[in-house]
Amino acid sequence: MDGDFDRNAMLAALAWQVELGAVDAIDDAPVDRFEVKPEPKAKPAAAAPAPHAPVVTPEVDTVAEARAAAKAAGSLEALAAAQEAFPHCELKRGARNFVFADGRPEARVMVIGEGPGAEEDAQGKPFVGRSGKLLDKMFAAIGLARDAEEAEAALYITNVVPWRPPQNRDPEPEELAMMRPFVERHIELASPELIVLMGNPACGSLLGKRGITRLRGTWHEVSGVPAMPMFHPSFLLRRPEMKRNAWADLLTVKARLEGLG
Ligand code: URA
Repeated sequence: MDGDFDRNAMLAALAWQVELGAVDAIDDAPVDRFEVKPEPKAKPAAAAPAPHAPVVTPEVDTVAEARAAAKAAGSLEALAAAQEAFPHCELKRGARNFVFADGRPEARVMVIGEGPGAEEDAQGKPFVGRSGKLLDKMFAAIGLARDAEEAEAALYITNVVPWRPPQNRDPEPEELAMMRPFVERHIELASPELIVLMGNPACGSLLGKRGITRLRGTWHEVSGVPAMPMFHPSFLLRRPEMKRNAWADLLTVKARLEGLG
């Protein structure tokens, strides 16, 4: 026995759950049960708050803090360090890895997705799971790749949140708002010619609009850069009949790169 816990029994119970297929903590953030202190049996009367005393918590304007941290970053490396160190986003506590970007920052096209899934969280890179494989195929069809040697044919890939949301839930509006200054600075520093927004959370964060079925296929603008909303590859994996729309959107992007659109 180790204090109140039998460590080996707990590890065995955890291994059993993993064998059954459990992959996620139930809460948004993990709880270290070894750190949880038992409730004190009885609180001294003097320490009890008055029944209607207001709870005073220091106000932190997380968006303003994010804006200041992002603005101070003079390079992509500095931005990645500032975003990774940002302490106010709860997603950070439940993620294994910070996922900043992949591909070539000097690419003409910057793809912005939603947030890391399990595979991206494990590898610390965006779009490396099943939907990432489809994304690579989609862009290869118009001659673009994240590992292209020539900047002309390259892609730069990031997400609107850099930490995996638990159980792959959509990022909350507060999480998107806190991360938006970092994404906007990311765009400013990478300075792409065109942006592709993958799915509703990316459009919600950067266009302030959702409704990808209506938004896709027409040019919008993010930080002064033309932006094309498209169906997210994970949606296309579930609804392959929608791939023809994605193909049309990719051709629109290609035409614009060739100066035709
Ligand atoms: N889906 C996303 O939106 N981004 C990733 O990085 C992976 C899956």
